[in-house]
Amino acid sequence: MGKSAIVLAAGLGTRMKSKLHKVLHPVCGKPMILHILDTLAQLELDQVIVVVGQQRESVEEVIAGRAEVAVQVEQLGTGHAVQSALPLLRSDSDTTVVLYGDAPLIQAETIRQLMDERERNNAAVCVLTAEVANPTGLGRVLLDDAGFVDRVVEEKDASPAEKQIRLINTGIYSFRTADLVQAVGELKADNAQGEYYLTDTLAILRSRGADAVPVQVADAEEIASVNDRVQLAAVEAILRRRINETWMRSGVTLLDPEHTYIGVDVEIGPDTVVYPGTLLQGRVVIGAGCEIGPHTQLRNVRVGDGARIVQSVIQDSDVGAGAQVGPFAHIRPGSAVGPEVKVGNFVELKNSQIGAGAKVSHLAYVGDAEIGERVNFSCGAITVNYDGESKYRTVIGDDSFIGCNVNLVAPVTVGEGAYLCAGSTITEDVPADGFAIARGRQVTKPEYVRAWRAKRATRTKGPQEEA
Ligand code: UD1
Ligand code: CA
Repeated sequence: MGKSAIVLAAGLGTRMKSKLHKVLHPVCGKPMILHILDTLAQLELDQVIVVVGQQRESVEEVIAGRAEVAVQVEQLGTGHAVQSALPLLRSDSDTTVVLYGDAPLIQAETIRQLMDERERNNAAVCVLTAEVANPTGLGRVLLDDAGFVDRVVEEKDASPAEKQIRLINTGIYSFRTADLVQAVGELKADNAQGEYYLTDTLAILRSRGADAVPVQVADAEEIASVNDRVQLAAVEAILRRRINETWMRSGVTLLDPEHTYIGVDVEIGPDTVVYPGTLLQGRVVIGAGCEIGPHTQLRNVRVGDGARIVQSVIQDSDVGAGAQVGPFAHIRPGSAVGPEVKVGNFVELKNSQIGAGAKVSHLAYVGDAEIGERVNFSCGAITVNYDGESKYRTVIGDDSFIGCNVNLVAPVTVGEGAYLCAGSTITEDVPADGFAIARGRQVTKPEYVRAWRAKRATRTKGPQEEA
């Protein structure tokens, strides 16, 4: 009782007009082909074969370790692609599911039903069909009087009457392996495109008296396929809505789900509110009771419970529980913002750790730094971490006060509880509880301005003309 799957992904997908292979285009952040492999992984199959061809290296790299690879050197049609996979089929394979790599939304349960139906009917093949409003470009399924599939006719080969048919071939099949092998061997390329159509196997099996059973998909959204970027956006919208509904049902508030973009590898805790214009990309894990957005982009970020992130961009970093970020903060890779920290407007962090309860409230740059707990890193203070060649670290102990517009010229270490005066350019280490001031002394000349004005008045005609 061996179960196999063959996924066709050899054609580049010219209608995408892309350098990237069609099946590698991401849908909600994950390449199409991986959506399909993840779905197949839920089915306890004995083998999964992906047929690659054009740009095979790039496809193989993405699917490495996830499937066996068959190569279709020349793309002579979907039937020909299956032929390329036959040598890899296990000898004990009795069922072979065939899918196309450009329909990423298919659900495991639907494939399972298709396989069950074939076994229940003891049919040669079960074809997943769908009734769609606009069948343009898709193969139409013609049924016989008994309701079996008579044949599938491609758009380019269809008569005007056949084009009216709205029952379409989804490109997902469950075959009895022996029948697939035999029928694929008999394919001919006598059609408008001169290709070996997999769909012709249905008529071949039929002509031999075997049954091809149509199974209509319950939810037509599942079988949406991508041939161009308009369809890519449509598929993305379907999956986005599904993901968003899942999170809303699990206790997350999305103020405007139409404008909230949550990737497939995201987790969000209950009672978190996500505002419009928020993109959660890659691996993002958000705790409970957070507020995220509006207009916020998080990529590979962990956010603790109760944190608040407003109008900010964060990448490859952690934000601790109860922290407040933004508006307009930019947290670059390698940063860890501790619990209850405040990172305010126009602050940039890069590869830096900010200890619990510290405040970096406005207009600061913190790069390659370790800032202790409860430190106040005041407005306009910056780390000078780069000398044009190398990067250097700044270390600031707990409870220190870094005044406004302080320049910390790294490498530099400031001890705990130190106090750096506003406007200082700190080039040397400051010990714990040390006080440092490093700026030119103020010179005040009380009479200077008045004298200057008086001198100027003698040179000009009068104060009216000055204005
Ligand atoms: C195909 C079906 C059509 C169905 C539609 C559903 C055929 C002949 N037609 O048409 O009935 O309604 O899908 O989306 O099967 N591929 C290869 N090697 C090839 C040709 C294609 O691997 O030589 C792969 C492609 O990379 C793609 C998939 O097969 O992933 C489908 O090919 P595509 O050209 O998109 O077929 P459609 O014209 O959409
Ligand atoms: Ca297609």
